[in-house]
Amino acid sequence: MADQRIVRYDRLDPSKTERKAFDCGDQELNAWLVRYARQNMDEGNAVVYLLSEDRRILGYYSLSAGTVSRADATAIVGRQAPDPIPAVLLGRLAVDRSAQGRTLGSRMLGHAVRQSLATREVIGARCLIVHCLTDDVTRFYKDRGFDPSPISPRTLMLPLADVVATLNALTGEG
Ligand SMILES: CC(C)(COP(=O)(O)OP(=O)(O)OC[C@H]1O[C@@H](n2cnc3c(N)ncnc32)[C@H](O)[C@@H]1OP(=O)(O)O)[C@@H](O)C(=O)NCCC(=O)NCCS
Repeated sequence: MADQRIVRYDRLDPSKTERKAFDCGDQELNAWLVRYARQNMDEGNAVVYLLSEDRRILGYYSLSAGTVSRADATAIVGRQAPDPIPAVLLGRLAVDRSAQGRTLGSRMLGHAVRQSLATREVIGARCLIVHCLTDDVTRFYKDRGFDPSPISPRTLMLPLADVVATLNALTGEG
């Protein structure tokens, strides 16, 4: 099997042709990779990670600094927290249609959790949050340890303090 790696966008530096070949089935997520991923990296708004096989992009996700309001937070995330609550934002996560259902999305999510834990060594962050584009996709995150906001059901969060069990489940360790 060809080598699949998760690397920062700037380490692969994909051409426009390589970016345009990516199709996760959602036009907005496809277009973001073609038009805005590089710009957001360059401006420091996000770090984009690519899951690639040779030079083919099979998946991508982005991380940014973020916050969640106490009103939006789950009970665990909101306990003894400031308002707003510091968080790591999982901006987007998508897998090419040809590779969906083969655990690549879970692998990237596990990678995002690890990066969030590393970030937490330097900057306080209570949770990893994601704003899902559709109701359907919330199931993907709920099955992987995320809980929905009590007032915004498409916003889900994973408390980072006790995340090792989730990480082991995603990576098949433990
Ligand atoms: C959602 C997505 C990232 C999952 O990646 P993946 O590599 O297919 O996921 P995995 O193989 O790790 O896991 C598959 C699981 O995801 C679920 N899943 C896949 N696509 C889904 C969707 N659109 N909605 C809900 N669940 C979905 C599958 O049912 C499967 O569930 P199971 O583990 O209970 O069998 C991917 O399918 C995708 O890119 N979809 C289109 C883009 C999108 O909607 N992204 C989310 C934006 S917030």
